[in-house]
Amino acid sequence: MRLNQHLTRLARKAMQEAFGLESPEPDLRVATDPRFGDYQINGVLPLAKQLKGNPRQLAEKLVAALDFDGACLPPEIAGPGFINLRLDPAWVGQQVGRIAVDERLGVEEQNPTQSIVVDFSSPNVAKRMHVGHLRSTILGDSLVRTLRFLGHRVVGDNHVGDWGTQFGTLIWSFKQGHDAILLEQDPLGELERLYKHGSERARESAEVAEEARQELSRLQAGDPENKALWERFVGLSRRDAESLYDRLNVSFDSWKGESHYNQVLPALVERMVAQGLAREDQGAIAIFYGDHPELGDKPFLVRKKDGAFLYATTDLATLEERLEHYDPDRIIYVVDVRQSLHFVQLFEAARLLGMAQNGHPRLEHVGFGMMLGQDGRPFKTREGGTVTLAALLDEASERVYPKVAERYPEANHDELHRLAEQVGIGAVKYADLCQHRTTDYRFDWEKLLAFEGNTGPYLQYSLVRTRSLLREHLVRFGSEFEPVAGELKLEEPEEKALAVELLRLGDVLDRVAEHLTPHLLCEYLFGLGRCYNVFWDRCPILKVEIPDSVRRRRLTLSAGVARAFEIGLSLLNIPALERM
Ligand code: ARG
Repeated sequence: MRLNQHLTRLARKAMQEAFGLESPEPDLRVATDPRFGDYQINGVLPLAKQLKGNPRQLAEKLVAALDFDGACLPPEIAGPGFINLRLDPAWVGQQVGRIAVDERLGVEEQNPTQSIVVDFSSPNVAKRMHVGHLRSTILGDSLVRTLRFLGHRVVGDNHVGDWGTQFGTLIWSFKQGHDAILLEQDPLGELERLYKHGSERARESAEVAEEARQELSRLQAGDPENKALWERFVGLSRRDAESLYDRLNVSFDSWKGESHYNQVLPALVERMVAQGLAREDQGAIAIFYGDHPELGDKPFLVRKKDGAFLYATTDLATLEERLEHYDPDRIIYVVDVRQSLHFVQLFEAARLLGMAQNGHPRLEHVGFGMMLGQDGRPFKTREGGTVTLAALLDEASERVYPKVAERYPEANHDELHRLAEQVGIGAVKYADLCQHRTTDYRFDWEKLLAFEGNTGPYLQYSLVRTRSLLREHLVRFGSEFEPVAGELKLEEPEEKALAVELLRLGDVLDRVAEHLTPHLLCEYLFGLGRCYNVFWDRCPILKVEIPDSVRRRRLTLSAGVARAFEIGLSLLNIPALERM
């Protein structure tokens, strides 16, 4: 079911007939004020200029041509030429009766399905993951899930930064002396300490800086000792990252670091030079963009004067391999907005190189803003250090613990701990996902952990409540409630409103997939929760005096709501709980 799409198609057909246009855009939107109906056609006004007609008359002409085949009551014209549509409760009842019993709530896969690569998380090795990586991980994971739900073949790739000049410094520092016990117990802490020590020394002494450079050259030349050290550092980092991914319930289909592409970089640069796409400039090699308005004075450096390759070179090689392996229709990079220029350069280079032409594959940078502290400044520990991801998740879970303990005095510590972790992590994820991704947002514990309002806990609670209603049926009536497919006779406006919300899930997911904006799904779920509250207040369900048929109808709607929450939470990767 794609409600908006369905109505848009019919409205477009009417516009073609009424105005003789080839592919008019009805601009059909959910009505902002439910008093005026469920949907609104806004496309007539902009047409009035083009057709040199009076908008009101055009609207009348369109209304005469509209045929929604029973889906809508007769449309009404409002203001200068908006058309208000009210769905017919009988039609809504037929549709919702069909989808409420469906596993996917009637959301068919998109057609055609695509091959899509999502590059996300991608932390740099030998450093602890910090909150900045949280956003990429959470957003990317939700996009992977949503695109997959819509039927696409998705490869989630963790493009870790496991290669670069930092390894020269790290190896140098390691060889000076390291704490073997710490390296076992707190590997990332020890690696960070070593790196800090090394870079401080290199700053003080040109000699040390030179030695570190030599360690790097030896590593690049394949020196066995340095290679083994590098592998050890990468392995330790991976173990650390994996424990976090486990906690977040995130996984990848591919985990190829930047190092994976090392071998092909020299030939790639030579090829680009031979093709005349890259050229030497003061000893370095770069791709120049000619008179490109934005990039004309911003060449893309692919080889440094000392022969070293860069982030740009690796990304070009990565792109080439992805094209070959996955024949993708879309490649999505979920990376901090501060790297925007890099991606504009990369995508333009890809076009020049013939890797992506006429928008195929579609290359997209899904940028996101910063996570700020309550004071509106970059999120830091009280002491001013960077907040590690593990510490953040620990704090979430610790803060939730007393809240769940209060609700379940009878539960034991392990149960409470598990529950607190699921609510805490869900809350952190939701706080991130519910924002428009490009804006910076303030991280506020009180707000994001609240059980009321637009929060993860509220959403989890909404599902718990619907599930317990369905369970309650078993207690009171001695049998599990089984929704049966078939038309629902929607009598109350709250029933219809709720049913219409359920019919909208497919449209919402399409938009998330198109714009890569999970916050639209959050908005939808929050709205559904509110809609369900109104329904709950006005439409009693389990009371004995409620006739059987009415109860069945309301329970069927409730089962549909539970299904919508289950689907939504699973796409946001927020734990669905049985109780809380
Ligand atoms: N490792 C990089 C960083 O932490 C992000 C990599 C993003 N992916 C890419 N293909 N460039 O900044």
